[in-house]
Amino acid sequence: MRSTLLVDIGLLATQDAELGEIRDAAIVVEGESIAWVGPASSAPAADESVGLGGKAVIPGFVDSHAHLVFRGDRAEEFEARMRGMPYGAGGIRLTVANTRAATDIMLRWNVDRLAGELLRAGVTTFECKSGYGLDVETEERSVRIAREFTPEVTFLGAHVVPPDTDRDEYLRLVTGPMLDACAPYSRWVDAFCEQGAFDGDETRSVLEAGLARGLGARVHANQLTEGPGVQIAVELGAASADHCTHLSDKDVDALAASDTVATLLPLAEFSTRAAYPDARRLLDAGATVALATDCNPGSAYSTSMPLAIALAVREMRMTPAEAVRAATLGGARALRRSDVGLIAPGRRADLVALDALSYIHLAYRPGVPLIAQVWRSGVPVLSVR
Ligand code: NIG
Ligand code: FE
Repeated sequence: MRSTLLVDIGLLATQDAELGEIRDAAIVVEGESIAWVGPASSAPAADESVGLGGKAVIPGFVDSHAHLVFRGDRAEEFEARMRGMPYGAGGIRLTVANTRAATDIMLRWNVDRLAGELLRAGVTTFECKSGYGLDVETEERSVRIAREFTPEVTFLGAHVVPPDTDRDEYLRLVTGPMLDACAPYSRWVDAFCEQGAFDGDETRSVLEAGLARGLGARVHANQLTEGPGVQIAVELGAASADHCTHLSDKDVDALAASDTVATLLPLAEFSTRAAYPDARRLLDAGATVALATDCNPGSAYSTSMPLAIALAVREMRMTPAEAVRAATLGGARALRRSDVGLIAPGRRADLVALDALSYIHLAYRPGVPLIAQVWRSGVPVLSVR
């Protein structure tokens, strides 16, 4: 197998507990994987050598929460919000109408376009939810198309109850025929536990049905109000409780004592002009924190993991090191993946070189395109001049 030595890395933030941060570092990539990591002075020989000109290197970002299968946008809703309208779960229904009317080609094009944006933002692994179909046919199309782009597909039939539909009937559909149609393409089941979406009992029944079909659970929890979502996520052993904007002390303790990751989505607070979650409180309690984009046409139409990091540092009391960790290793934990999110021998060679001497610049230089080079599974997939 051909090996490549990446040298002249000014600062390497591996996210590996033992390797830590290495100055003047080198990495040997062999095929799809990382073969060696350490100081350039002790690097082994390789078939070829590539100099990175002193750039900082981090693992590719792992975006563990994104809604990419939809048609149309909601720019007017955003504009109205910026004039003072509150955000609510109801706006989802407009995207549902557009998504149902879209062809497979249109939906595929939308995922492809946003996957391209994610790559240019340094994301090398992403999760993708359904949830804008809300009928058996369109939910099945959504997960099937998502599966063409990522193995991390989430069935979110329980996003809201669609218009003109009886609640109980819809829950029977989501936990029955819709789940049957979507499970073959999905790894995860999710539910939006919120006022205006699904209550605690409904959320539990959807997640339990998914778990019984062999899917893993993740939950939209405590986004707009302090509901039961986090407690249900922890009780059911969900991989992640997402949003976590409104948490009681009991919620924080439950997350800290569990292996359910608290996934924070600051681009949603940014775009809904809401108060940010307090990441410090979760970190100090010992919870594992992930940062993700939540990219969707309603509450957070952004693929910018660097902006999520900048917001986490500026608004949520995370250090730059903690924010980068949450966007890499944290995301990997939220997807229960051990092959990505860190730079260490044997892991997938997913790497990002920054146009900066340190990853601190991701927060220090907000809005500046710092993603210079990206490798996915050892293949150079992006190089910005
Ligand atoms: O994660 N909270 C639920 N779902 C999305 C928003 C969906 C929408 O407004 O279209 C979220 O914020
Ligand atoms: Fe979401």
